[in-house]
Amino acid sequence: MISVVKKKNETYSIDFVWEKDTHIRSYRMGLEKVFEGKYLETMLVPLRGQAVLLAGCGKEEELGLLQVKEITAAVSRRCKELHIGEISLDPGFFVKKLGKKAVTAVVLGLGLGGYSYTYRKTEKDTASDCNFQLENGEGFADSLQEGRELLNGILFARDMVNTPGNHLRPMDFARKITDYVDGGDVETELLVYGQLRALRLEALYGVGGSSEYPPCLLILRYRGAPGSNDIYGLIGKGITCDTGGYCLKESSSMAGIKGDMAGAAAVAAAVHAAAARKLKVNITACLPLSENRISQSALLPGDVITGYSGRTIEVLNTDAEGRLVLSDAISYGIRREGITKVLDIATLTGAAAQMLGNTIGGTMSDDEAFYHMFERAQTFSAERYLRLPFGKEHEKMIDSDVADVKNIGGGCCGTITAGLFLRRFCEGKPWIHMDIAGTAWCGTPTYAFESKGATGAGVTTLYYLLKEAQL
Ligand code: BES
Ligand code: MN
Ligand code: ZN
Repeated sequence: MISVVKKKNETYSIDFVWEKDTHIRSYRMGLEKVFEGKYLETMLVPLRGQAVLLAGCGKEEELGLLQVKEITAAVSRRCKELHIGEISLDPGFFVKKLGKKAVTAVVLGLGLGGYSYTYRKTEKDTASDCNFQLENGEGFADSLQEGRELLNGILFARDMVNTPGNHLRPMDFARKITDYVDGGDVETELLVYGQLRALRLEALYGVGGSSEYPPCLLILRYRGAPGSNDIYGLIGKGITCDTGGYCLKESSSMAGIKGDMAGAAAVAAAVHAAAARKLKVNITACLPLSENRISQSALLPGDVITGYSGRTIEVLNTDAEGRLVLSDAISYGIRREGITKVLDIATLTGAAAQMLGNTIGGTMSDDEAFYHMFERAQTFSAERYLRLPFGKEHEKMIDSDVADVKNIGGGCCGTITAGLFLRRFCEGKPWIHMDIAGTAWCGTPTYAFESKGATGAGVTTLYYLLKEAQL
């Protein structure tokens, strides 16, 4: 399968090659190294007066959507290095093996492979961005469009998460999201600090009141299924900087604190993509946006606050702030917005990162039908999650002596008790919890479609879940 690539008036081709493919032999002549078609191997070779970029695809039987994303990401990165400004590629090679879903994977790979966050470098990378288009797209125009929307969403989420905290205060973040979804079918409402106080969302304003940059609650509504009473509530943690508060983090663990809003970024991106694709589903997103700092008005360990639901919370650790702001967003979603299902996504616990590393997120759920949708979504997104169990013994760990619930558990099961804390505010609605503390951010990329920093974790899985939820 040969695709054409243009660099000014030069013509390039891309040839996808399986490991040990017989036609590799034709490329052996006169090369200093033999191209073996190894997974993610690339090599630029002359062939009949043309330049050909060989892209190794590894073993045919190992190809899945994740591999397609990686292979095309490697191609796009190589093209960027070679200052090739334009790739035109035929996804047929992958579609033949994996169906139309491969088209989306190709778009994501090509679009993410060359990504780096360099906006705030005064000297820009000289390698130009690589534009791409897909050939023979008639049959899969729709998948192509879906891929573009998802790519757009992941890029938005990555840019937000990579933005330094001093350039993204809670109200800045709200504005960025509002601008991002503007012009589509998404309605927005912003509750500012005074309103949070008047409405008594103390778990949110209690955390956010620690900073002179005030917290807010951003609501996004999309109604793709007006005939249905079902509303999917997406709740995303939006802590734009998490110092830990009075339970101050040590300096070595502060590097990633600007990325503590990856859940909110993923939700905003997924809602926008769902609306752009006109999915037949109702969504209300509740995004609590806040800083977590030290000041005269910051929460102190031992404080007891009353959340929007009226439940009292003993704050024993000010660094467990995510579950506080999320609990109020969940209560608000259920009581004021009428959401009928709850899905929360957050960079919630260091324990999740410890347990599962940078490639697998932790999930919890109390509803089999809802979680079944999630599992299907996960196969399409090629993201990986592990569902964690829970029981009454974990529930006990968050019972408080002086209030209804406390915001830390015992000495173990930190990811599970954080999840269960949130479940206490779900009022029996079907619930899915996603802890992306390990996957939202990578110091060293694992996959070819990642780059150092934000990953855009959760965007595609959330989108496909909404797609599964359609009537
Ligand atoms: N945002 C952090 C969790 C986190 C840690 C995300 C590392 C990504 C990387 C969260 O607010 C937090 O500080 N959690 C505490 C909870 C603890 C105090 C019960 C934690 O995990 O240490
Ligand atoms: Mn914290
Ligand atoms: Zn946090």
